[in-house]
Amino acid sequence: MGPSQADLRAFALDVPKAELHVHIEGTLEPELMFELARRNDVALPYRTVDEARAAYRFTDLQSFLDVYYRSCGVLLTESDFYDLGRAYLERAAAQGVRHAEIFFDPQTHTDRGVPLGTVMAGLRRALDDGASLGTSAQLILCFLRHLPEERAQATLSQALAYREDFVGVGLDSSEVGFPPSGFARVFARARAEGLHVVAHAGEEGPPDYIWQALDLLGAERIDHGVRCLEDDGLVRHLAAQQVPLTVCPLSNVRLRVVDSLADHPLGVLLDHGLLASVHSDDPAYFGGYAGDNYADAAAALDLDAAAVARLARNSFTGSFLERAAVQRHLEDVDASLRRLTGPLVGEGGPGEAPGAPGTLRP
Ligand code: HPA
Ligand code: ZN
Repeated sequence: MGPSQADLRAFALDVPKAELHVHIEGTLEPELMFELARRNDVALPYRTVDEARAAYRFTDLQSFLDVYYRSCGVLLTESDFYDLGRAYLERAAAQGVRHAEIFFDPQTHTDRGVPLGTVMAGLRRALDDGASLGTSAQLILCFLRHLPEERAQATLSQALAYREDFVGVGLDSSEVGFPPSGFARVFARARAEGLHVVAHAGEEGPPDYIWQALDLLGAERIDHGVRCLEDDGLVRHLAAQQVPLTVCPLSNVRLRVVDSLADHPLGVLLDHGLLASVHSDDPAYFGGYAGDNYADAAAALDLDAAAVARLARNSFTGSFLERAAVQRHLEDVDASLRRLTGPLVGEGGPGEAPGAPGTLRP
């Protein structure tokens, strides 16, 4: 007999995982937003936390971004960014996140007159605390694609003063009408600086934006990428190259990329042999952190423990951690699966023929 639904849910919540797609600004829970609004004397468009939560009903990406950028107005001081980062890491660590590669949007803050140094210092200090929570953490600087490439260039120039504090660059904000092709020069410069490269593509935008992110930006990972399924040649390419796709099921439901969790193509992506993993995107707005996304997606899509463990392994394989660290995390995932299901294939259970480690015994 396999594990119960409750055991599977607990496993999905707790299994060691890497968070590769979370926007730190999207982790601003209404409670902290109100606290910072009071502290900084900033007006909010809501009277209460409940009223804020009730307003988080979105029709598409843009309707969310309008709310998200407005809420960022409460973030002003180094302590604000520290509190934001610290609160995120505590929540993530409680849901099995052992490593996080966290997006931040400098332009959202510098355009409001908050110095980049304030943002960097607060986040850096929070991430350094992660170690004591058992979670390693790094930053990925995202350029806002609804603004011109020259502004991204200026942001990169400024950010290079903090080169040691981030490991890569990404591309986010409104997707349709803002193709990756418009950012080829700034990404080439980032690559020349030795930075990793990722890009949001194929969330609302067409498969061609995924090709552009790969071919014109040199993206090593695609954030979202779910619309790749509309292009068979692209699916074959992504599978052959094992390009990581950082998929965000609860986000896709809340931003109406899919109708419901039960309709989410996560299982289809896995069936095509793609290196898909599961992440939270903007958990304060979309109803769940990394573990919640694992647990809710597993329940809605009827994923078994082996599939959940595969998602967890993919998250580490797709990370920018060095090989030895990835290997240690993969062993932790297997150990976690073993505690749920008993010996894995290849581990010499009674009368067992050798097989691939990490798969479930029949
Ligand atoms: N998509 C694009 N940009 C974003 C998102 C997203 O889901 N969240 C924060 N910035
Ligand atoms: Zn995102």
